[in-house]
Amino acid sequence: MTVSKFFIPAVNSLGQGALDVTIDDINNLGFKRALVVTDKPLVELGLVAKLTDKLVANDITAVVFDGTQPNPTTANVAAGLALLQKHRCDFVISFGGGSPHDCAKGIALVATNGGDIRDYEGVDKSTKPQLPLVAINTTAGTASEMTRFCIITDEARHIKMAIVDKNTTPILSVNDPELMLAKPAALTAATGMDALTHAVEALVSTAATPITDACAEKAISLIGKHLRDAVADGTDISAREQMAYAQFLAGMAFNNASLGYVHAMAHQLGGFYDLPHGVCNAVLLPHVQAFNAPLAAEKLKLVAKLLGEEVDALAADDAAEIAIAAIRRLAADVNIPKNLSELDVDAEDIPMLATNALNDACGLTNPRQATHQEICQIFSNAL
Ligand SMILES: [Fe+2]
Repeated sequence: MTVSKFFIPAVNSLGQGALDVTIDDINNLGFKRALVVTDKPLVELGLVAKLTDKLVANDITAVVFDGTQPNPTTANVAAGLALLQKHRCDFVISFGGGSPHDCAKGIALVATNGGDIRDYEGVDKSTKPQLPLVAINTTAGTASEMTRFCIITDEARHIKMAIVDKNTTPILSVNDPELMLAKPAALTAATGMDALTHAVEALVSTAATPITDACAEKAISLIGKHLRDAVADGTDISAREQMAYAQFLAGMAFNNASLGYVHAMAHQLGGFYDLPHGVCNAVLLPHVQAFNAPLAAEKLKLVAKLLGEEVDALAADDAAEIAIAAIRRLAADVNIPKNLSELDVDAEDIPMLATNALNDACGLTNPRQATHQEICQIFSNAL
């Protein structure tokens, strides 16, 4: 008998105006001193001030930590934690995309559990709930605002640590599409393809359940319908809102069904070359699904259908190929780089990257398990 558990924040606000509602929610929770974890570009865009002005107007102290790097590091976590302790903050607000959310989770987890963020690499290594975390999302997306996944780069080892811990789940997640309008097209494309990767990997995962399938299927269909529009016109609030829902659904799927080799391999590219997570996923996604197809053809046929392809009359194997072609077409339409060579990935590094990918917890639920040589081959195919 297998028991599935379903993790999600207790409260999740989605839609235009969600930020205003959140201030009321924070007031009702009674918190008084926030550490706001964000990054410098969001401060410069004036988006962080939209939040901190509202907090201050409600007599809530806002201490801003804007030192989160695009692939947040153990040093980022330590710096944010020092600021939190100095100002005796009683809760954390993450404001941004995946990087501020992951950095904030690291800070909030160590704030109550002690030690160093490296101590929590792996699954459920902490013993206490983290300091309460309100996660306000500005991309669509990593879904880190609602997951128990926290990815932190260990600079010394040049790897991304996967910290999968129920205690990193925020208490409140917020997706307000008005905060997403300023995102440049390339970031919209990369984060949107990350969300598609979450949904596809969760759908073909060995840990998928009827609940995660339902979430993944709706996510794939929404991304197929709305990602191109959100990239073509960043001010299209309707496309932004649909993508916010899509990435949230994809997050519900992978937070509970986990992921696969696309993420296990992309984490190595991100950790070693400091490349954008969504772009690495987008390039690897068709190659990993081609490897998975012999064992996941029916699910990939469903992907094809959800992306609007006519596959009812086809055998599953043929339909899986059409799914992979549809994913490639979507990536090309939103101007994702064609291959890893365009990202300056060096063929000589592949054996090392493959070794580390096989140690990444995300690969455990990939539907077809690979040898070191096979992971090398998938990397080579994507060059
Ligand atoms: Fe991801």
